[in-house]
Amino acid sequence: MSPKLFILSALLIFSPAICRTGFSQPPQNQKLKCTALIPAPVAYDTETSKISFKKAVAGLEPWQQQEAYRITVKGKKVKVEAHTAEGRFRAQTTLNQLKTWGELPQGVIFDYPRFRHRGLMIDESRSFKGVAFLKKQMDAMALLKLNVLHLHLDDSAGWRIESEAYPDLTAKTAWRYGWDYFEWEKGKYRFGIEGEPGVSGGYYTKAELKELVAYAAERFITIIPEIEMPGHSMEVGYAYNDVWCQQADGTPFTGSWDLCPGSEATFQLLEAVLEEVMDIFPGPFIHVGGDEATMKTWPLCTRCQARMHAEGFTDIKQLQGYLMRRVEAFVRAHGRRIIGWDEILETGVPEGAVVQSWRGISGGIKGSQAGHDVVLSPSTHCYLNYYQDLIRKEPPACGELVSLRFCYNYEPLAAGMVAEHILGLQGNLWCEYIPTTEHAEYMLYPRLFAIAETAWSPASAKDFFNFRERALHLQQIFRFLGYNTFDLETESELARSGFQRFEQLEESKRHENKH
Ligand code: ACM
Ligand code: ZN
Repeated sequence: MSPKLFILSALLIFSPAICRTGFSQPPQNQKLKCTALIPAPVAYDTETSKISFKKAVAGLEPWQQQEAYRITVKGKKVKVEAHTAEGRFRAQTTLNQLKTWGELPQGVIFDYPRFRHRGLMIDESRSFKGVAFLKKQMDAMALLKLNVLHLHLDDSAGWRIESEAYPDLTAKTAWRYGWDYFEWEKGKYRFGIEGEPGVSGGYYTKAELKELVAYAAERFITIIPEIEMPGHSMEVGYAYNDVWCQQADGTPFTGSWDLCPGSEATFQLLEAVLEEVMDIFPGPFIHVGGDEATMKTWPLCTRCQARMHAEGFTDIKQLQGYLMRRVEAFVRAHGRRIIGWDEILETGVPEGAVVQSWRGISGGIKGSQAGHDVVLSPSTHCYLNYYQDLIRKEPPACGELVSLRFCYNYEPLAAGMVAEHILGLQGNLWCEYIPTTEHAEYMLYPRLFAIAETAWSPASAKDFFNFRERALHLQQIFRFLGYNTFDLETESELARSGFQRFEQLEESKRHENKH
């Protein structure tokens, strides 16, 4: 158990009962609603209490059985049943949360997940967070029964993972001028060297990443590393000019945000780095980005044009498909699967690739219909870097309003999706506007509670007003444990009442016009 969870358990064992909902004697007709847990469990005191645990889980999918558990509290006795260490771990996190309400409730909780992929993505490139921050968030994830940490380890704003094969990636781009992303942008994207006055940044060593992998495994969390390509990759070209497109006179297109799919140097670098990445991260998935390539230099590049000619391509986009297919084959040959942002669907990827739907849910519909497994993180509901309350009240953020209510009311399974291909969902935290770890936590909590409940609990167990009560309580616990959460007590009436996103912008504009 982590020190934090230990403190949490200790706190609760000795704390007076602070139950707000009469939880130790749940009203018979309220059952689920009275269980003060996030995520809400599948069932409380049902028929499954009367049969053996083995029988109770018999109809579940194998991955659900793996995490299923049953807790029986009778008098002072607590009995935990599970088929695996993972199931026992999930039960323990339930007990840790229950103890925060004082006395354990008498009765039976039977529980298992709705989705197998319950994730959080953290952007390390735009602002570097460090090992302690990631461990702390994994403690929170475990308490919320989240099981995937997706690390966006590189982007134009900085490379964050040690590479022995290509050491200049960190030596030349892990530090930059300007204390935050926008200062760096204003200063025209200048990188620096560690220790130079005025630079900020950092990167994870291989040893640190292995330590994080082990820490994650103890909490039944899988880390998915992301190496972004071919877009969002200016820093790679800055470190190794050969991966930038080439002009007719042989000079590189300096400052291009895309890698050159015509250059063999690009594939040599990507393959060497991916080998190092797969050596560190043992999980089944490697994220290879794929979003928002500008493709601006490709039509002008001698090597890209040669590649198009040799392959018989007629559309510039086919170069992205070519790069993705080569990388997918490489990753598959190493026994892993790629995940890519939903743009990968536009240029043809093999069936084994997982699609991460972020531009709404159409990638989830098209991807699952085409036989791809899918992770859902539509920006409209799952981007935790978007505003969580009125613009005038909040620090600058990007996007529109994703209030707690809006985030919570997201139902992942939409018409047209092939349900068996939907692996689950993720909250994403992009960090252009998030320069510090305190700010990152402020954006994560309590909205990550909502992602966790949508990902774990049955849709029928969800109820926003009941959830909000539980979130208010868990927020207090998180604050006690040292997390810098957004304060739900101060949430505006407009956000709480489920205001729509464009209305939030209008309301804020009206406010600005008045001043
Ligand atoms: C993304 O938000 N560009 C995946
Ligand atoms: Zn090129």
